[in-house]
Amino acid sequence: MKTRVAIIGAGPAGLLLGHLLRAEGIDCVIVERRAPEYVLGRIRAGVLERTTTDLMDRLGINERLNAEGLKEAGFALADGERLIRIDTLGLTGKYVTVYGQTEVTRDLMDAAAERGLEIIYEAADVSLHDVDSDIPYVTFEKDGAGQRLDAQFIAGCDGYYGPSRKAIPAKVAKEFERVYPFGWLGMLADVPPCHDELIYANHDRGFALASMRSKTRSRYYIDVPLTEKVEDWSDERLWDELAVRLGPEAAANITRGPSIEKSIAPLRSYVFEPMRHGRLFLAGDAAHIVPPTGAKGLNLAASDVAYLSDALIGFFKQGDNDAIAGYSAKALARIWKSERFSWSLTKLMHRFPEDGPFERQMQMAELDYIASSVAAQTSIAENYVGLPL
Ligand code: APR
Ligand code: PHB
Repeated sequence: MKTRVAIIGAGPAGLLLGHLLRAEGIDCVIVERRAPEYVLGRIRAGVLERTTTDLMDRLGINERLNAEGLKEAGFALADGERLIRIDTLGLTGKYVTVYGQTEVTRDLMDAAAERGLEIIYEAADVSLHDVDSDIPYVTFEKDGAGQRLDAQFIAGCDGYYGPSRKAIPAKVAKEFERVYPFGWLGMLADVPPCHDELIYANHDRGFALASMRSKTRSRYYIDVPLTEKVEDWSDERLWDELAVRLGPEAAANITRGPSIEKSIAPLRSYVFEPMRHGRLFLAGDAAHIVPPTGAKGLNLAASDVAYLSDALIGFFKQGDNDAIAGYSAKALARIWKSERFSWSLTKLMHRFPEDGPFERQMQMAELDYIASSVAAQTSIAENYVGLPL
């Protein structure tokens, strides 16, 4: 098999890239290890920046997003007692859209079938070859038979555990990592949200987040030590804890109901540099991870892909090599700023085991400062809605 761009991974990064290239008539094939149902089974964050919804608009894959996405004009930080509203629309002129990442993936998958974007699912043993030559290729097994896909470029969109990043030699690479000493216990329930905007809370007992998927489906989180087990958290215990941590105003509006999913996810900050080696590019979780505070994961994957698709389109349409050479530096400049924002919001809103009363006072003073300063609120708002591309 032969194509122009071989894309590894059919998560949001790979699917978006495939659609953007196809829309310009550039041949590409996506190779994915899992079955489509498995890919759609993953529950992830659900807040989209304008940069991400703009890409969906550009592709014309926006019908359900426009009909069902909830446009949010702000969100709140809570300190256990009060809600500090950040008026993102008033301060930046931009909304964010609440729409589950699973739904973005579903829309991109459905459109792939309609538009003839080729995705090979259940491809085993995907390996990358000769990425620093002009004729790289990918091999894999499909239905027990060995396959070879020759390409001009390979895009590694295969998430944190995929093989693409490992194809870049360690001697040219740098890794930056911070692992956090807690995880997020998340719960999905078919009950109306307790508030019409998201609430990130820092209470004496720990962090809590009230989010939503729709007017009838809520998503809640609390932070827990990594030693904690989901089985130890009955629905009642979790509702009780959320009511305390979110503070009295939100607690008064919580509607309880049975959970339809509950799981614990670890938190990590991670960046891999460079994001290009020869004819191989990395995009999305393959190159970086953010903690979920601020919901930047999918949005960063989307901005990587916006840069990468522009570079590849420039190469195939105008023979431009510069954008390809500049991809890694351009993407990383935005990634590091999102890493900084996700890390600082995580630091502000969580209790760390090493923190004492002084650090607690620092957090409370910072929240109080934010409550009183339009400048501080503007800084948070412009990061939350997404920095410009
Ligand atoms: N061969 C082929 N595909 C692979 C391989 C492999 N060896 N390993 C992983 N993949 C696939 C995964 O099955 C997955 O479908 O690559 C895809 C990567 O998708 P994601 O993990 O969703 O990553 P990405 O597309 O970069 O999206 C980033 O999704 O992971 C979340 O929180 C993250 O919101 C962020 C966004
Ligand atoms: C979610 O709705 O799952 C969500 C929202 C905001 C975050 C993280 C997760 O920061």
